Amino acid sequence: MRHLIDPTDLSVEETGQLLNLAIDIINNRQAYAHVCDGKKLATLFYEPSTRTRLSFTAAMMELGGNVLGFSDARTSSVSKGETVADTVRVVSSFADIIAMRHFKEGAPNVAAQYSRIPIINAGDGGHSHPTQTLTDLLSILRELGHLDNLTIGLCGDLKYGRTVHSLIKAMKRYDGTRFVLISPDELRLPDYIKNILPSNFIEVNTLEEALPMLDVLYMTRVQQERFANQDDYERLKDSFILDAKKMTLAPEHMIVLHPLPRVNEISTDVDEDPRAAYFRQVGNGKFVRMALIYTLLGKTEEQPKRLRVLSPTTRRCTNDRCITLSEPVVKQSYTDEDGVERCAYCDHCLRKD
Ligand code: NCD
Repeated sequence: MRHLIDPTDLSVEETGQLLNLAIDIINNRQAYAHVCDGKKLATLFYEPSTRTRLSFTAAMMELGGNVLGFSDARTSSVSKGETVADTVRVVSSFADIIAMRHFKEGAPNVAAQYSRIPIINAGDGGHSHPTQTLTDLLSILRELGHLDNLTIGLCGDLKYGRTVHSLIKAMKRYDGTRFVLISPDELRLPDYIKNILPSNFIEVNTLEEALPMLDVLYMTRVQQERFANQDDYERLKDSFILDAKKMTLAPEHMIVLHPLPRVNEISTDVDEDPRAAYFRQVGNGKFVRMALIYTLLGKTEEQPKRLRVLSPTTRRCTNDRCITLSEPVVKQSYTDEDGVERCAYCDHCLRKD
């Protein structure tokens, strides 16, 4: 059984096969209309979502399968205090595959430990969002024709933007990727992601500086729901706004991606620009999720071990949003290249004591 918790759970080769399958599905929709007949997808969404949940639902329906689940944890037994571990043990009896979105970071990791069916991480707090990354990769491939030798500008909330974290993990595996980071100081990448960036990344202060050198501009929303202090959100929310005037500085071939929803960060006067690929991107999300569901349901081999060495720990995670603070799981850690001990669930550092 295979899960998708982190984008690197799929090797580069497997990722390529999955993207090719998605393209084949796009070109031969009818051929895939019944490949999941009789199968059930459970969507367990503990956090709001429009696109991701609906695209999982549409994906399973287009494969011939059925969908059950909840989109509001208040209407499930979670409101009675049920753990993630127990919920997935129960749902494993009703469905064939689970897509889970959770506000706690590392929750899908816990789910994978207790589930008897494949788990897909549909976004865990500010940590990761691997199926958005597959959507982004398919979009880049369809728009530009290749995934190597690209300069990608990541703009906005790089601290809490889980789509950015997963995209960096996936894209750094292709030759010649160069990252350009554009964010307010307070919303820079968390250190566990910054540590894995290839050494040739650059940080700039304005979109104007970044635009002329980019093949892909990845805009993100400032993640209001992750801010402890709403005044900080108000101060930072409009730090970078892409508009038609700034687009005149971008190369002809550059594409603009955005996982959506957009708030203010892309002015609507960009929408008609042929380089604005974000609404085409959203359509790719359904096809890549069809490819993923179909692939995971067919995979019988064991989940490959991540390369890092894990050890049990009794130390607490420093991340208030980590699932290990609320769920009775075996705490595990790994040591990064700088010798920092990190939580195996959410990647934040552990307390020193
Ligand atoms: C993103 C998410 O949920 O992280 N949305 C999505 O899945 N398409 C981005 C966001 O909410 O800003």
